[in-house]
Amino acid sequence: MLTPNLTVNMEGHLCIGGADTVTLAKTHGTPLYVMDENMIRENCRGYERVISEEYGGRAEKIVLHGNSKTNSELQMAVSHDVGRIVCDNLPELKRLDQIAGAAGKTVSVMLRIKPGIDAHTHDFVKTGQIDSKFGFALETGEAMQAVKAASLYPNLRLVGLHCHIGSQILDTEPFAEAARVMVRLMDQVRSELNITLPELNLGGGPGIRYTEEDDPKQFGEIVRAILSALKGICTELDFPAPFVLFEPGRSIVGGAGLTLYTVMAKKVIPNIRSYVLVDGGMCDNPRYALYHSEYEAMIANKADQPRSERVTIGGKCCESGDLIGEDMPLQSAEEDDILAVLATGAYNYSMASNYNRNPRAEIVMVRDGEARTVVKRETYADIVKNDL
Ligand SMILES: Cc1ncc(COP(=O)(O)O)c(C=O)c1O
Repeated sequence: MLTPNLTVNMEGHLCIGGADTVTLAKTHGTPLYVMDENMIRENCRGYERVISEEYGGRAEKIVLHGNSKTNSELQMAVSHDVGRIVCDNLPELKRLDQIAGAAGKTVSVMLRIKPGIDAHTHDFVKTGQIDSKFGFALETGEAMQAVKAASLYPNLRLVGLHCHIGSQILDTEPFAEAARVMVRLMDQVRSELNITLPELNLGGGPGIRYTEEDDPKQFGEIVRAILSALKGICTELDFPAPFVLFEPGRSIVGGAGLTLYTVMAKKVIPNIRSYVLVDGGMCDNPRYALYHSEYEAMIANKADQPRSERVTIGGKCCESGDLIGEDMPLQSAEEDDILAVLATGAYNYSMASNYNRNPRAEIVMVRDGEARTVVKRETYADIVKNDL
């Protein structure tokens, strides 16, 4: 199985966190997102454990991100005393300074830096290279210019730097290198501007096992490599160890979730391909349509049978590109079977849309075999409630 929380019960049904997915589909309907609470908690504890073993400290405050924040978002953040605002560009710094001044507050900011690291991942989820819409480039001197600007605004307190080099990164080295590059920049800030920044936010990015071919490093190994690189470079430059923040996303929730669909039909096009058509699609998981992200799938009620066929899983939206995947191994699918698409716990519900007026799916959280609804299924009434 892709992740240890997935098992097959005596009836040959796929189970997640001890709960029978076929029963969940029958009880809650499909499409249905299912999340494994214990796995999410274990992953959070895992991150905390390795950080406190290797480094110590704990981030307690909210960090606001965005490369195109509006004034009303900045005002909301300032009025709610969000702990850190990570600024992305010079106009934003200026607007934030004015907003903070008008509110009579001093706001703690970090600057998002593009450290120029090639994260060896899909182009659409690479964010640390110079040609990225996020942040200030290091290579061009833009980052240093932003540090100078931020340090002069009267209503801003520059507390540190941030980088997020990309997502679904399977190796440790790009992360370790990013940490070194960022501390070198902090050291340059110290020598050129006489400012010692106390905080460093290293973003997220550790990859997960979407398919059996993926072999990601455990996040514990990644965090250890980052912290070791960080301690090494701080010692080398005699730079005081910064307070470090991480922002892991999919490595906590990605593998802890799956999506259940009902098979509506199978369409065999001789010598071309076979489609398995389901009652969801790009409206609940647009990732294949966006960047051909690969998934593993199985027929949840035939989980003990071999995946002997190769199929394309098609959604219900009016786009030919509305696919969950192509050439996927699958048990022989029939109408009314329950299809489980694995490792959908990250960037599925958050990327869902009402395209074709499809209501967003329900989310159930399972824990020790028991399921509870944590997000209700949308209704057609919900969808039209803002229509005039
Ligand atoms: C600034 C920032 N931090 C952290 C993350 C989380 O990334 P991941 O899910 O790859 O760990 C993202 C994802 O888009 C991000 O934009």
